[in-house]
Amino acid sequence: MNHKKQNKKAMDTSGIEIECVELDALKLIANIYALDQRGVVPNNVVYESAAKLAGVPVEQINHLEPIGVAGTKHSVFKRKVRWHQQTLKNMGLLERVERGAWRLSEKGRKHLTKAEPNVAMLAFSTNLGIAIWGACERVFKSINEPITLCVTSPPYLLRTPRDYGNPKNEREYIDFILRSLEPIVCNLVPGGSICLNVSNDIFERGSPARSMYCERLLLALHDRLGLQLMDRLVWESNKPPGPAQWASKNRVQLNVAYEHVYWMTNDPSCVRSDNRRVLLEHTKEHLRLIKNGGDQRNASFCDGAYTLRAGKSFANETPGKIPRNIIKISSTCADKRYLAGLAKSLGLPVHGATMPLALAKFLIQFLTGDGEDELVADPFGGWFRTARAAEELGRRWISSELMMEYVMGGAGGFRASPGFVSAL
Ligand SMILES: C[S@@+](CC[C@H](N)C(=O)[O-])C[C@H]1O[C@@H](n2cnc3c(N)ncnc32)[C@H](O)[C@@H]1O
Repeated sequence: MNHKKQNKKAMDTSGIEIECVELDALKLIANIYALDQRGVVPNNVVYESAAKLAGVPVEQINHLEPIGVAGTKHSVFKRKVRWHQQTLKNMGLLERVERGAWRLSEKGRKHLTKAEPNVAMLAFSTNLGIAIWGACERVFKSINEPITLCVTSPPYLLRTPRDYGNPKNEREYIDFILRSLEPIVCNLVPGGSICLNVSNDIFERGSPARSMYCERLLLALHDRLGLQLMDRLVWESNKPPGPAQWASKNRVQLNVAYEHVYWMTNDPSCVRSDNRRVLLEHTKEHLRLIKNGGDQRNASFCDGAYTLRAGKSFANETPGKIPRNIIKISSTCADKRYLAGLAKSLGLPVHGATMPLALAKFLIQFLTGDGEDELVADPFGGWFRTARAAEELGRRWISSELMMEYVMGGAGGFRASPGFVSAL
């Protein structure tokens, strides 16, 4: 079979822009296996992720076109992805586990270099913070410094065991998160906060019903670490449409639009949050209302829970608008694009699950003061977006990351920071 010819045709019709560079397309598919926490990745997940990463509309996945002399209809997109799977297999990087389910081979996994359990290496530092290559459970156990805030986004819940010891089920996942956070909670200052960004879009196997691991995780954080829930902040972003199976195909679900950030504290009576640090500009309508002496109605709404008093409500000037607890921030940003370009130029894998800088910045401003003693921690550093946000806001920071290649990629964002020193 003439792979080259078939591949070119698929490229022309699949609409995957970045696939004109053959190597990038291969890396994209390889990265899906490297970053997926399940280890063994079903093909439908690979198709969805590939479409998402390549910016291809999800409908394209199952769009059929006549192919070959017989004109039999096939999905060009799926054929293209499978062709790359075969190429990666031929390169010894991918292996088939069962029909429709593949995983990285041992050689493939070496593309991400995982720190040994007993290794914790200072990777780079600035005047304000340190980044450590190592497992967070190990790193934060040896840190004995008061922490004001932890903003972190742990890996997703695993459905299928990975052979190097990732959590296998909900219970193991929750234990892993608690084990990772425990040393940080022990060092949390009174009224300090933990912000945990987790995915709400984990489904029961073969079912459109969502897993309730988030609820179990919250209860475990309360029962076992003594944390109290301040809010389930909603981070609304421009997530690509999904879940493809249940929203686009079976039509029983709505498209996803948000993730939660669970905000917890060890002591709500002295919590260090202050919304005056994150006030927004008033709208023109609101400013007009103030200028005209406030609302001129006497009215009661919501069974008396909310009342308007003529000339009194909205009559006073205030420094700004208190943000609502739905935070709208795009998941893509210039900063991410810059780091992705840098990683590619260095031959490093592109991190597929980074947090937008603006989200980390908002949380840090809301939940820490600007005192020199404030320390921001992130155990699951990735490309160190929490650390970068802390650096830009002048807060001290500490962050760990398990994979050397992500540490190297993330370090690129700090090269211009005062006092930058790298051991990599
Ligand atoms: C969702 S990503 C975090 C992304 C990060 N917030 C950012 O914006 O770049 C989770 C990260 O945790 C790392 N990780 C997984 N297990 C870890 C562990 N035990 N210790 C430290 N990092 C770990 C993964 O390699 C991955 O980069």
